[in-house]
Amino acid sequence: MSATDTFGRPLRDLRISVTDRCNFRCVYCMPKEVFGRDYRFLPRRELLSFEEIERVCDVFVRVGVRKLRLTGGEPLLRRDLEILVERLAALGDVDLALTTNGSALAAKARVLADAGLDRVTVSLDSLDDEVFRAMNDVDFPVARVLAGIDAAADAGLPVKVNVVVKRGLNEGSVLDIARRFRGTGHTVRFIEYMDVGATNGWRLDDVVPAAEIVRTIGAQFPLEPVESNYRGEVAQRYRYRDGGGEIGVVASVTQPFCGDCTRMRLSADGKLFTCLFAVRGHDVRAVLRGGASDAELADSIHAIWERRADRYSELRTEETHSLRKVEMSYIGG
Ligand code: GTP
Ligand code: 5AD
Ligand code: SF4
Ligand code: SF4
Repeated sequence: MSATDTFGRPLRDLRISVTDRCNFRCVYCMPKEVFGRDYRFLPRRELLSFEEIERVCDVFVRVGVRKLRLTGGEPLLRRDLEILVERLAALGDVDLALTTNGSALAAKARVLADAGLDRVTVSLDSLDDEVFRAMNDVDFPVARVLAGIDAAADAGLPVKVNVVVKRGLNEGSVLDIARRFRGTGHTVRFIEYMDVGATNGWRLDDVVPAAEIVRTIGAQFPLEPVESNYRGEVAQRYRYRDGGGEIGVVASVTQPFCGDCTRMRLSADGKLFTCLFAVRGHDVRAVLRGGASDAELADSIHAIWERRADRYSELRTEETHSLRKVEMSYIGG
């Protein structure tokens, strides 16, 4: 039985953070000053086990979820992730995706594909090694991420590339990235820098509007808009008029898409969040570990979704953006 919220939005998509840790310190996500040596990540015992994640996902699929995305932090830091992938792939008719920074993909792509992963989304903010190293802030070379993307493609995994664009930092990389992936079959998505979390020092002036990105690329490689794949698709799609493939833009700041938001998020310690910009979550781990039956779990998921009235991006103001929102590395992108 499917669930709808107070605005009539169905629950279709679950994003699962398997760890709050990451080996990168991207300046727009986990700034070093905050996520440095003293930062307290979740201790292991707080994390949901693979069995628990599988059980929660099974119940979500029964209440109508059709897309599962593994995220983090960096999900490939969670040991033996392919075991979880195998279990989730066995849940049936779901689209099973992974968002990764690509650093371990060259080593992992094949086992993930063999375990039944359907596709990957790799974050890549610049092809310029110097800019890339500055943005991940751990001096990680871009060549290794590119090798990860190639390994994923070689393993037969469809690839999307996510580019967060921050004014003054990597806007100069937009055209390079578009050029590099034209004709490869990999879809690049350019993402407006968002005020997620409470630590990245977001300012509206740092946002490069999606319309500007489309203009920049379109001036070089003419583009035309494409219909959405499905209701609630996050990215607006464009195709190259010459048949070079397509790109997307995620305009959550300048053109919010809350009206069609069908996404729930599960943190690594088992809290459910009904919005990327939420301040607090619902403790499903307590329900699980309290011995609830599947039917009781399904009831509590229904109850959470049915009360949902989130539409943060449509309401964003100077006041809301300074709330103590949870971090994206914890809740899952
Ligand atoms: P596909 O299933 O491949 O279409 O991916 P997706 O639409 O789920 O997008 P993806 O997970 O690649 O997310 C792209 C970016 O959009 C993320 O990195 C976030 O920055 C942003 N994003 C995703 N979901 C939401 C959301 O619910 N609200 C907002 N404001 N931004 C989101
Ligand atoms: N704004 C927009 N996107 C972000 N991501 C992380 N932090 C932000 C932010 N502040 C993106 C990453 C990755 C996905 C998980 O979320 O680039 O692609
Ligand atoms: Fe890590 Fe991804 Fe956040 Fe970068 S954006 S710090 S890779 S979780
Ligand atoms: Fe959904 Fe919240 Fe994002 Fe709006 S801001 S699209 S409600 S997650």
